[in-house]
Amino acid sequence: MVENSQALIARIEQLKKEKNAVILAHYYTTADVQAVADFLGDSLALSVKAKEIDAKIILFAGVHFMAETAKVLSPDKKVLIPNPEAGCSLAESCDAEKFAAFKANYPNHLVVSYVNTTVGVKALTDICCTSSNALQVVQSIPAEQPIIFAPDRNLGGYIKKLTGRDNMVLWDGACHVHEEFSLDKIVELKKEWPNAKVVVHPECKATVAAVADYVGSTAGILEYCGKSEATEFIVVTEAGILSEMKKKYPKKRFIPAPPLGSTCGCNECKYMKMVTLENIVSCLENSSPEITLDEPTRKAAERSILNMISIK
Ligand code: 13P
Repeated sequence: MVENSQALIARIEQLKKEKNAVILAHYYTTADVQAVADFLGDSLALSVKAKEIDAKIILFAGVHFMAETAKVLSPDKKVLIPNPEAGCSLAESCDAEKFAAFKANYPNHLVVSYVNTTVGVKALTDICCTSSNALQVVQSIPAEQPIIFAPDRNLGGYIKKLTGRDNMVLWDGACHVHEEFSLDKIVELKKEWPNAKVVVHPECKATVAAVADYVGSTAGILEYCGKSEATEFIVVTEAGILSEMKKKYPKKRFIPAPPLGSTCGCNECKYMKMVTLENIVSCLENSSPEITLDEPTRKAAERSILNMISIK
């Protein structure tokens, strides 16, 4: 198995050179996939990277909306996705047609959408955001301007609480992985590890975020764990991040929080795990599956992402 992985990794490195391809990977992919990435990051860092990258081909090791975002920002590059079935429950919870009908009920509202959306929803959006910059994005909008926030009710609720904005209407979507974290399990773990800091992704429910020492994006959580004097952390986000945590901070201990009824002791996004070394090889060899977008939708979606990137 290890030998096989080594052969696949060598083949990927060879194909990257031959084809002038780079691999962008999200922290939630498996450790072996992260190991072949040229850039590893959270949604914000990867969106920015996709725009700046100098290569003919971007292979996106992540879920579909992430590869779509890369294509929106890099229309002249070939953007490949090793497994197009790798979806996202949040993006799927917000259908573009239904969202357009919802938006029509609030003609005076500005639309802020999380990047975890389809290109169709981004095209209906004024400013995108990620979990790294959602607060900044909302704070950049005048307080009296009403907002539609989509699609994550938990991230939206968290930002609403931080900003005290009552004029934010939330789309009722959620990430199935983050919604499943159980407060009871975290409380049990905290009894076992009383000195551990609890780090939570803002897609978790408010009851879970309420017991956090830190709430933030995957990149934010990594940074917090590095800067904190604590040596133990209860990690309340998708388990893929653990490999980067252990690599970066080998002397610290990371305890994955399980959802209710978990058998593996952690919480995994099945979609992120659909990217494998095998399908990366096949995707690079065949230059397929490729992301293609219709130009008017791409252009409209691009505006919402560029609006986000321009907010410093
Ligand atoms: P990040 O913004 O932390 O990368 O979150 C991405 C994500 O899809 C969480 O479900």
